[in-house]
Amino acid sequence: MKVGVPKESVAGERRVALVPEVVRKMAAKDFEVVVEPGAGEPAALLDSAYTDAGATVGDGAWTAEVVAKVAAPTSEEIAKLGRDSVLIGFLGPLTQPDTTRALADGGVTAFAMEAIPRISRAQSMDALSSQSNVAGYKSVLLASEHMGRFYPMLMTAAGTIPPAKVLVLGAGVAGLQAIATARRLGAQVSGYDVRSAVAEQVESLGAKFLALEAGKGAEGEGGYARELTDEEKAAQQSELTEAIKGFDVVITTALVPGRPAPRLIAAGAVEGMRPGSVIVDLAGESGGNCELTEPGQVVVKHDVTIVSPLNLAATMPEHASSLYARNVQSLLGVLVDDEGALHLDFDDEIVAGACITRDGEIVHEGARKATEAAPAGGDRS
Ligand code: NAI
Repeated sequence: MKVGVPKESVAGERRVALVPEVVRKMAAKDFEVVVEPGAGEPAALLDSAYTDAGATVGDGAWTAEVVAKVAAPTSEEIAKLGRDSVLIGFLGPLTQPDTTRALADGGVTAFAMEAIPRISRAQSMDALSSQSNVAGYKSVLLASEHMGRFYPMLMTAAGTIPPAKVLVLGAGVAGLQAIATARRLGAQVSGYDVRSAVAEQVESLGAKFLALEAGKGAEGEGGYARELTDEEKAAQQSELTEAIKGFDVVITTALVPGRPAPRLIAAGAVEGMRPGSVIVDLAGESGGNCELTEPGQVVVKHDVTIVSPLNLAATMPEHASSLYARNVQSLLGVLVDDEGALHLDFDDEIVAGACITRDGEIVHEGARKATEAAPAGGDRS
């Protein structure tokens, strides 16, 4: 089977869908890989490395049987795909209805990495987790860049510096990695989430669990949190306004799939923080967890720096691509038969769950609802 790897075109997208190390393994299993010239360059992966690994570097990435991308294709790129094309990528099924519509209209069989069911058998394909891990790690370093303090306790001849106090709100994949990273750097870390299973995970990383009453045990479907009621939201904000006061760094990662990010930090809570504190809001793409967040910007409000990076995983393109490529390789493994030929078995829950468009139709329930809810031109990102 032939797999094409185009060069990513979205501004700031420095990742690439397959890396040479993975291409080498695929070539050993008789996959043919064609890479658009320069596709790996932003991730420091040269064309020569792909050629050495067994890929062809040249034209034809868009016309391969399967096209593997990171970011969703633009409308011009979708026009380059043939009607029988299979596409893999972060396609934003719940947030990019225009992309979904264009893929359906183009007759593309599209698999969204976000829609892969989060079941044990699909763990190796879980790109949401692999990229959230990168973002969680980087968020701690980003906070450090904007903070005039150390993370660890330092005992020096000039006196003792106390450790920084870090609070992580939303302890899913990104949050737990942020907690682990801040701990490794010597900070005193607390974590918070509305799902009850999380307290133990936070504590197992050597952090304290911040127990709040509001929204406690707000489990939703599929292991995710549910959206809180208006009353719960107000109570949560008010409890957090008090709790947040003593922290030097607050990293927020709270998300509810397909919904605007929950507003955890009210403007008043920022005002109550110590001057020089830093908030890194990883939920900016969904509107932000802090009321004063400006997505994609660094702003200073009430002497607190609020950083809202977009697509943070793309700022660590080498390892982010390497992990993503392994996710893609794993997904490709369920899209082929024993002879390595393309074989889409829609009775397989991974194949069926991840597919968003096929035969000119939108076949993913969430994606269909998102297109019905948004008129043409309604993409959020
Ligand atoms: P996510 O990125 O959608 O959300 C991040 C975190 O925000 C979640 O932990 C969520 O509980 C929390 N959150 C949502 N609303 C909140 C609120 N109002 N206040 C505080 N926190 C709030 O989730 P992510 O990180 O992608 O995964 C979350 C969970 O999904 C995992 O912990 C696990 O249960 C499940 N999962 C399962 C996997 C598997 O079985 N293969 C793999 C990865 C995740």
